[in-house]
Amino acid sequence: MAVILDGKQLAEQIRAQIKAEIAEMGLTPGLAVVIVGDNPASRIYVDHKKTDCAACGIRSEEIALPEEAGEEQLLTVIAELNRRPDIHGILVQMPLPKGYCEKKVIQAIAPEKDVDAFHFVNVGRIMVGDYAFLPCTPAGVMALLDHYGIDPAGKRAVVVGRSDIVGKPQAMMLLHRNATVTICHSKTPDLGAVTREADILVAAVGRTGLITADMVKRGAVVVDVAMNRDENGKLCGDVDFAEVEPIASYITPVPGGVGPMTRAMLLQNTIMAAKRVSQL
Ligand code: GUN
Repeated sequence: MAVILDGKQLAEQIRAQIKAEIAEMGLTPGLAVVIVGDNPASRIYVDHKKTDCAACGIRSEEIALPEEAGEEQLLTVIAELNRRPDIHGILVQMPLPKGYCEKKVIQAIAPEKDVDAFHFVNVGRIMVGDYAFLPCTPAGVMALLDHYGIDPAGKRAVVVGRSDIVGKPQAMMLLHRNATVTICHSKTPDLGAVTREADILVAAVGRTGLITADMVKRGAVVVDVAMNRDENGKLCGDVDFAEVEPIASYITPVPGGVGPMTRAMLLQNTIMAAKRVSQL
């Protein structure tokens, strides 16, 4: 029986801390959330972010552009947000519609307002361990490990997935905490042979049922970053929870594990941005 890494509960705790901190700070952090087009998943994510902000005293501002607005108009909006002193954090919801270059758009955000930590400057800072913002999902995973007293130092950590948003920065953060880190991906032969070595296994691929019990070492810490839908439309991760839970020492549920932590880390990055600008 594994201990459940309860991200929902920890995120609630973090939100309460953030709310108290903002009340004390005497400054209202401002987050601009830019959404382009009408991707239904993006709409839900953006609504969640606005609700979270309202719950802890961050002023959020949504800028919704129609799909046909075009990249130039989006870049103009970002330039304006970069200049505004009442906006401390800027987030452009991804994915952008076809015809927009996501890399170019991300690079247009002022690095000190880049609360996603997607800008090259922030990505580079993570590489050298001299960072302000960390990308929300891997930061949420690290906060969850810390909260449960799981120290990566000296452990074998295996990250399955090499995305710029999760896999790569997750591996770097585990490395900074002195884990021995391996990144696996779609071209890794015999994935199970590698994942069975993991003391800490992070699955971030987006394929339901990818991680089965035979791929997990007894007593491993299993973190599931994915948010997939099964054939019945139910939310699930990459890990076969029912199979893996009995052999893991700790495991995240989906939903209620990493997802709420990602949302909490965005709030944390936003107040960090506000403090930095205001030298609080
Ligand atoms: N789309 C899915 N996840 C994210 C995220 O963390 N940030 C942004 N900006 N877009 C996303």
